[in-house]
Amino acid sequence: MSADVIIGAQWGDEGKGKIVDLFSEKYDVIVRYQGGANAGHTVIVGDKKYVMHLLPSGVLHSEKMNIIGNSVVIDLGSLVEEINGLKERGIKITPKNLKISENAHIVLPYHKAIDKAREGKKEGAKKIGTTGRGIGPAYTDKYTRTGIRVRDIFNAQVLAEKVKENLEEKNFLLEKFYGAPALKIQDVITEVEKFGAIIKPYVSDTAGDINKALKAGKKVLFEGAQGALLDIDFGTYPFVTSSNPTIGGVMTGTGISHKNIKKVWGITKAYQTRVGNGPMPTEMPEMEGKKTREAGGEYGATTGRPRRCGWLDLVALKYVCELNGLTDIILTKIDVLSIFKELKVCTSYTYKGKKIDTFVADGEELYKCKPVYETLKGWEKDLTKIRNYKNLPIAAKNYITFIEKYSGVKVSIVSVGPEREQILKK
Ligand code: GDP
Ligand code: IMO
Ligand code: MG
Repeated sequence: MSADVIIGAQWGDEGKGKIVDLFSEKYDVIVRYQGGANAGHTVIVGDKKYVMHLLPSGVLHSEKMNIIGNSVVIDLGSLVEEINGLKERGIKITPKNLKISENAHIVLPYHKAIDKAREGKKEGAKKIGTTGRGIGPAYTDKYTRTGIRVRDIFNAQVLAEKVKENLEEKNFLLEKFYGAPALKIQDVITEVEKFGAIIKPYVSDTAGDINKALKAGKKVLFEGAQGALLDIDFGTYPFVTSSNPTIGGVMTGTGISHKNIKKVWGITKAYQTRVGNGPMPTEMPEMEGKKTREAGGEYGATTGRPRRCGWLDLVALKYVCELNGLTDIILTKIDVLSIFKELKVCTSYTYKGKKIDTFVADGEELYKCKPVYETLKGWEKDLTKIRNYKNLPIAAKNYITFIEKYSGVKVSIVSVGPEREQILKK
């Protein structure tokens, strides 16, 4: 009976896809516990690139069970496209190796329409910069208890009633408040039923499935989407997503007890990125940011937007370590930092005229925090071909030790490139 968790320790895109795919070999069950098709988890295998949005990143290992948990909000069309796309590429996906929670809420066309209309109406710095995938509106309906769950799709009367009731309100909002086109009840129902029929064989009591697997001594890996700093409760609100990528999300998002959890792996890049709006104290000036973006290929896996780049923020990382009880850090993309002669790391902020070393988890207040840096020596050597931790340049090892000392958590794994074999165990 053992379960481990992989959590993004920044604002997302830390390399969760790569690591979950790699770890999947050692686990029997891989479970996505929150978020929706806003996620983009990249897995590179040789010359092939896969981007998972809703499916767990263990799905390339067809002998493993992959599960979409109850707190994931499912865009049915996006999920079907993802399953079909992988099948076309020769990946085996069947009801034997993929299960979808019957209690997960679905993202409907009106959620996406409202997400886009709401963002469109906001001005400048007030925009969240959402992915437009309907995430906020879908979770809103979940919490106002008007949401539609996977199980509802298969009861025609319940589905029709719920869509009708929802659309009365949403169409009013879309037309009268946002000046956007209304949606037709029958179109929405037809679409949901069409995709619903395709996913039906995969639908299951996933909380029961996971607990059964744990009781049978199977190893379970929980895959977070987004990152701790985008958490609705603990992130840089309101510049966050609408779910809990942090540790509590595993329990509410899957129905397992905390007693099962052993390792909590936090993944962080060796620098900071953010896509969308909101404060990022260590954001690099334009030239450095551009250089990092190009070297790291920092463009969104879901929206293609350029990611903002910054120096590693250890104040934020330490906050995330404590918040989630991280047992280990996985450091990715350290190879990208080879472009710099010197590396800055943020060890405190100046805030309201004082030096502080605690994170300020507020979207407005964090803007007022100015980073205080320590400068470490760079290594200016290609790391991508190194396969043994011992062979890292001394400056790279010092950089890693600095992170460990500051955060109080060991860096157990270092990634030096996007491919499966570009991994160093310490
Ligand atoms: P996720 O959302 O956390 O799964 O991360 P993304 O897939 O959105 O972004 C991470 C990107 O970095 C992907 O393009 C990966 O292929 C790539 N990547 C992962 N690990 C490394 C690494 O150690 N070095 C480099 N250069 N790229 C990496
Ligand atoms: P993965 O799992 C990076 C960001 C959006 C926006 C904010 C809210 O690939 O790490 P939303 O559409 O969720 O309402 O947008 O959250 N965001 C992500 N940023 N990686 C992600 O996922 C993200 N998912 C959402 O850019 O700032
Ligand atoms: Mg991503």
